[in-house]
Amino acid sequence: MSLGALTASYIVASILFILSLGGLSHQETSRRGNLYGIAGMALAIVATVASDQVDGMVAIIIAMLIGGSFGAVLAARVEMTAMPQLVAMMHSFVGLAAVLVGFANYIDPGIEHAGVEKTIHDIEVYLGVLIGAVTFTGSVVAFGKLQGVIGSKPLLLPARHWLNLAGGLACIWLGVLFVDAEATSSGLIPLAIMTVIAFAFGAHMVYAIGGADMPVVISMLNSYSGWAAAAAGFMLSNDLLIVTGALVGSSGAILSYIMCRAMNRRFLAVIMGGFGSTGASASAAQTAGEVHATSAEDVAELLSGSQNVVIVPGYGMAVAHAQHPVSEITQTLRAKDVKVRFAIHPVAGRMPGHMNVLLAEAKVPYDIVLEMDEINEDFPHTDAVLVIGANDIVNPSALEDPNSPIAGMPVLEVWRAKTVVVLKRSMATGYAGVDNPLFYKDNTLMLFGDAKQSVDGVSKLLR
Ligand code: TAP
Repeated sequence: MSLGALTASYIVASILFILSLGGLSHQETSRRGNLYGIAGMALAIVATVASDQVDGMVAIIIAMLIGGSFGAVLAARVEMTAMPQLVAMMHSFVGLAAVLVGFANYIDPGIEHAGVEKTIHDIEVYLGVLIGAVTFTGSVVAFGKLQGVIGSKPLLLPARHWLNLAGGLACIWLGVLFVDAEATSSGLIPLAIMTVIAFAFGAHMVYAIGGADMPVVISMLNSYSGWAAAAAGFMLSNDLLIVTGALVGSSGAILSYIMCRAMNRRFLAVIMGGFGSTGASASAAQTAGEVHATSAEDVAELLSGSQNVVIVPGYGMAVAHAQHPVSEITQTLRAKDVKVRFAIHPVAGRMPGHMNVLLAEAKVPYDIVLEMDEINEDFPHTDAVLVIGANDIVNPSALEDPNSPIAGMPVLEVWRAKTVVVLKRSMATGYAGVDNPLFYKDNTLMLFGDAKQSVDGVSKLLR
């Protein structure tokens, strides 16, 4: 492929990636956004493989077939609830690829630079390997924590900030040695030592972050993987990789910021670690009181007599695969002229947009699915709220108890509605391990059981 055709393909692919991001920001256009992304990536791969710089076509096609089949099988099999783990694993691959590309590029005898060009190229290699190594081990530890292989409690080493500072200073010093090295063999030593430090730093950083902050960690690693790819783009003088990496890097950073805001966390505080130790260590006062258990019959009666219903889905709806019966109930109630809307918390479930994806899959109309800020004011005028498998995102202690580990996190203020029905299996805590005073309020009814079975039961009675 000629250089002109390659450049044109890269420009078209870049535009498709930008359109893709634009499409993904709204539910109505997200399917189209995905298609733009797929088309852009397909074009980028074909153009790169067909370019004059690439040879060894057979090896590349075999590698693509193996990698592609592996990815397709994993993506087809993954449960929606395990998506964050899959994403963490993908980020680890990007990080590792940046490390390997950096080393390969540095030792490649065919690449020769002198003077300022050599300095710039060395800095690109060094930064690419550094960011890639941090992303790699950070993502592997994040995968372990999300998968439950590693405990979600933050690892708080006594002098952890000093250790990080020492590691950071060592990386700067090694960077100077690396850039000053005349021969490849002498540059390899500081590069290799820095890689080991960066591996340790990435792992330590994520080990120190508690379970409740993992959503932010995933989007932060997403951002790092983008910057690692952009650095690889500079190394390889590949404009498309630079643009794509920068898009991923900046969108991941914006997402991390949005999630920090949704959880009332400062980004730096998340990176410093320590929040989110689960279970008994949660400092919130243990809530006590009487809970009011209810039945499917009573809930069906309550809903039939309501004019205004809000459904709050959470992680339990995803686990129970209850989105289809939830959609059925919605249709039945709307057919009876009951106004039904959905309230979506930004960190409901286990990944950004988790609930929106499930509701879209069950064909719930987009215009009745509202963000937290759009609906929070409406709860006092709501007859009935159905909380389906949600817990932390409707926990009043976030606003009422300054000692709660989730203090300050904005939540859906469902308790301000006339009646709240919580569908869950037991009195167990949610992801943050914090007891929920909502369950003991006078206007709260608990419908115990698997969410799918409970919603199915209510749905049958409503028909
Ligand atoms: P959670 O607070 O985790 O609560 C989910 C509830 O669902 C649990 O209390 C559980 O109670 C119930 N449940 C589980 N399986 C069920 C089933 N089969 N049927 C009925 N109920 C079931 O979820 P949430 O309210 O959606 O809040 C999300 C939490 O996850 C937040 O703390 C957030 O920070 C965190 N997080 C979010 C993300 C993103 S990006 N969204 C990523 C990682 C972590 P029972 O066991 O009693 O049934």
